[in-house]
Amino acid sequence: MSTPILSASILAANFAHLEADIHEAEQAGVDWIHVDVMDGHFVPNISMGPLVVEACRKITALPLDVHLMIEDPDQYLEDFAAAGANRISVHIEDNPNIHRTIQKIRSLNCLPGIVLNPGTPAWSLHEVIRMVDLVLVMTVNPGYGGQAFLSEMIEKITEIQRMIASLSSPTLIQVDGGITPRTLPITYTAGARVFVAGNSIFKQGDGITTAVRALKGSIH
Ligand code: DX5
Ligand code: ZN
Repeated sequence: MSTPILSASILAANFAHLEADIHEAEQAGVDWIHVDVMDGHFVPNISMGPLVVEACRKITALPLDVHLMIEDPDQYLEDFAAAGANRISVHIEDNPNIHRTIQKIRSLNCLPGIVLNPGTPAWSLHEVIRMVDLVLVMTVNPGYGGQAFLSEMIEKITEIQRMIASLSSPTLIQVDGGITPRTLPITYTAGARVFVAGNSIFKQGDGITTAVRALKGSIH
């Protein structure tokens, strides 16, 4: 079985001591740092932008996994790449020129990912799957941390896993939303290999290190 990759979503971290939270997550064995960018239009919430990516870049060498939930992402790709993003994932919804967006991400030396909202079917990936390094299957509707995992997404993960296997492609499936030690193994069995976790890392009573261990230990 291939090794699971844990991407810590700093949306749930304490912004007053982000550096300490990231360092603790890193020491506990988190693999990537997930940065959720929200503009109040594509999703109702507003979160953070390139300045936060730049601040993270200065304090960690872990890959910065930037998830754009914004209208017109093309306009901001250079800014995120310059800030130090390693991966940039964009939604397939509401993007009439998705190939251009993906090509632009690659031209900026970042690894492109494509994101599907819960209401977007797996087949919509058909025209783009060969172009991306990662497919992010949202397991909640984007916009907020701390929402409940949508178990209906398991079938979609399985379908995308089959699609990727039929292409003999190394494309990774990432899941994001409501990932806990209970839901992580279910998505792993369906084919997910990258797990975004916010609340289940940064908002657990026993602290970040214990929470990361519980997530990592949930697959046997
Ligand atoms: C939701 C974001 C997620 C969010 C996940 O729109 O894309 O990355 O931070 O939070 P949890 O893990 O708390 O569900
Ligand atoms: Zn996210």
